[in-house]
Amino acid sequence: MALLEATDLKKTYRRGEQTVEALRGVSVRVDRGELVSIMGPSGSGKSTLLHLVGGLDRPSAGSVRLDGQALESYSDGALSRFRRTRLGFVFQFFNLLPNLSALENVALPLLLDGASLGTVAPKARELLAQVGLEQRTDHRPAQLSGGEMQRVAIARALVGDPLLVLADEPTGNLDSKAGVAVLELLQKTVRERGQTLIMVTHDPNAAAYGTRQIRVQDGLIASDEPGR
Ligand SMILES: Nc1ncnc2c1ncn2[C@@H]1O[C@H](COP(=O)(O)OP(=O)(O)OP(=O)(O)O)[C@@H](O)[C@H]1O
Ligand SMILES: [Mg+2]
Repeated sequence: MALLEATDLKKTYRRGEQTVEALRGVSVRVDRGELVSIMGPSGSGKSTLLHLVGGLDRPSAGSVRLDGQALESYSDGALSRFRRTRLGFVFQFFNLLPNLSALENVALPLLLDGASLGTVAPKARELLAQVGLEQRTDHRPAQLSGGEMQRVAIARALVGDPLLVLADEPTGNLDSKAGVAVLELLQKTVRERGQTLIMVTHDPNAAAYGTRQIRVQDGLIASDEPGR
């Protein structure tokens, strides 16, 4: 069984009089262990696709099955719990909470799920060590560099042992050297843990790290090929 099976996904956004057909019928299957890169022009529907498969938004038509579960069958509350416990997200702007330490930011998904900091701190610490930040556990985001913030965000995405990691332009706000380091780290940690990654990126070098490259254009999949 495929880990992810999206069938004929459509998404229409309405803003007053205007409608935008962001996705016009996208079907894709992703198996466990794949590292998928999604590329395509600005406005082509990449983030929309990632949001739909990650249950951050609901499609106008079509369905998403993740680990055998149809996301459309979930209530909003059940969907947000599924996201918190089974998925990991890495965004372009890191989305760290400014008043929390690196350790607390990493632990946050488990804290939101009711765990105590005492029980999850060792795991958060271990993940921070894996991303090379064992010396930065007590720093707040403002006391970290951009690359360090993104490494904290990666550790946070992995802390719940997610089924699937979704990343949207994870290197969009980093210089090319920090970007390469973050990508190598993300792919290495995901691979080592036997996890699955779907990553949106503008950067062809970043896309080449994956095992598979999907190109989205005008709300449709234009090509889907093995990585280099
Ligand atoms: N909430 C929204 N309301 C209305 N239109 C939207 C909304 N979100 C996205 N769109 C439109 O849907 C289309 C696809 O947007 P999307 O964010 O998926 O593109 P993208 O491929 O991720 O682009 P980029 O590379 O610039 O991030 C765009 O034309 C965008 O303007
Ligand atoms: Mg986008």
